[in-house]
Amino acid sequence: MAGNWKMYKTAAQTTEFFSQFAPAVASATHAEVVICAPFVNLPAAVEAAKSTNIGIGAQDVFWLKEGAYTGEVSAPMLAAIGCKWVIIGHSERRQYFGETEETVLKKTVAALEEGLTPIVCVGERLEEREANATEEVLARQFQGGIQVLDAQQFARIVIAYEPVWAIGTGKTATPEMAEAAHAFLRSQIAGHFGQAAADACRILYGGSVKPDNVRGLMEQPDIDGALVGGASLAPASFAGIVNYL
Ligand code: 13P
Repeated sequence: MAGNWKMYKTAAQTTEFFSQFAPAVASATHAEVVICAPFVNLPAAVEAAKSTNIGIGAQDVFWLKEGAYTGEVSAPMLAAIGCKWVIIGHSERRQYFGETEETVLKKTVAALEEGLTPIVCVGERLEEREANATEEVLARQFQGGIQVLDAQQFARIVIAYEPVWAIGTGKTATPEMAEAAHAFLRSQIAGHFGQAAADACRILYGGSVKPDNVRGLMEQPDIDGALVGGASLAPASFAGIVNYL
């Protein structure tokens, strides 16, 4: 269960969040719990999550280790401060910051080299769904950004399916729609990496997940977790999602 805070909260608000959230999920053993905070708040988040069952992640990473790349942050820098996870290829980065299948792949490999767990995002836009192109888009994103990994690398990533039209809109995909996309992704994985790798891969759903719709999503056989934006910002609502059982 991963929270993506996007561009929200200061360092002080980060610390405040954990003081309420950590006790509320302390007994959750059915899921890994992750918060992906803005870069500048990662030290505060790592500090606040010490001695808890919450892992900390970033929302992006550059693919080179260091160099003259103004504004970028590398995987070794993230690993050095105690970050364990990183979201890669979020649709907002694809839409506003020129992320492509190629950059997603390079960032994923760079994260894996430093021992970070990449949460690689895929998902179709509204016009693509309306044109019945969802599977074509997912296949393209899978084949260009994920399938190129070797089997050992693939075994260490998490995939997030986030239909762009469901992000921040309150329009959750129905559990059946989400399940169909997840099942398709798992069939793509099976076709390339084999059935065992497909069964073992965790595929998260993201897009307007809330405490009151998470259970129906999690009941689907191919939905293994959630990547939560807006509803991860308040301790009670994200704890309600984590503790959905
Ligand atoms: P919302 O939960 O706010 O729709 O955001 C989903 C998302 O983009 C998570 O990465």
